[in-house]
Amino acid sequence: MQTISRLDALRNAVDGFKSGGKTLALVPTMGALHEGHLTLVREAKARADHVAVSIFVNPLQFAPGEDLDAYPRRLAQDAALLEAEGVDLLWAPTVDVMYPSGFATTVSVGGLDAVLCGAARPGHFDGVATVVGKLFNQVRPDIAVFGEKDWQQLAIIRRMARDLDLVAPHADAIVGVPTVREADGLAMSSRNQYLTAAQRAQAASLSRAMRHAIAQLQQGEVAGPVLAGLTAEIIAGGFASVDYADLRDAATLEAMDRLDGRAARLLVAARIGSARLIDNMPA
Ligand code: PAJ
Repeated sequence: MQTISRLDALRNAVDGFKSGGKTLALVPTMGALHEGHLTLVREAKARADHVAVSIFVNPLQFAPGEDLDAYPRRLAQDAALLEAEGVDLLWAPTVDVMYPSGFATTVSVGGLDAVLCGAARPGHFDGVATVVGKLFNQVRPDIAVFGEKDWQQLAIIRRMARDLDLVAPHADAIVGVPTVREADGLAMSSRNQYLTAAQRAQAASLSRAMRHAIAQLQQGEVAGPVLAGLTAEIIAGGFASVDYADLRDAATLEAMDRLDGRAARLLVAARIGSARLIDNMPA
């Protein structure tokens, strides 16, 4: 595996991997890799001849007061994990390479970024779209693999890729991989390390409460009372607060009153200790 942190070296490596018509997949990450990330890597390997993984803790998607400084960074350990998975290229740029002095351009995906995490974290998805757009231009992948764990992020990146012609214009260029969970149902996340042992045990109540709410929705119950019950159950499970608990159209993220035959998604963000955890499931 080649580890590269400069753009000129990246160009040469990418040219090599793409020569002879070989395909290249990109898996963008912020590092502190866990089994969720490695599942994306395996999916990428199954779909392309070569796999590039990026590790970059993107300051643009953290608001002042969020966990940019606390975010776990362990490049050597991550590199060993990726090497063992047979990854070809680790792209690990510095902040100066990604955002040279005077950097002034932002990508903003209208509409989809106004709700859910976008409402709670203003500017967050502009930061995500900008860095992912840059990563696509830097690595020029044929496909890119993302997790359904960040459902809204996936919807925004699909929209951006289509709107800006960033990757090949075929339907599966942006691949979504189902959320990988711990044995007790908690969605794997680099942020789970912020939890104490007691909070970690309580955090399992989130996915349990969501499955309960989905069962109610599937029996035809209207969303309002089900979501109110879900919020109460999450608080009773040990969470301090619920940022949102919503039933939405899976593609447009429009709010839904009940299940009506469209592909739907139940999405939640809730706070426990110093962590803000997100989860979503098909409904
Ligand atoms: P990060 O949180 O490191 O996640 C990198 C990728 O791993 C994302 O596509 C995310 O959805 C996926 N992922 C995380 N946990 C997962 C799980 N439990 N199961 C399946 N996939 C999971 O998301 C980001 O980084 C950044 O916003 C990024 C896209 C890299 C832009 O900076």
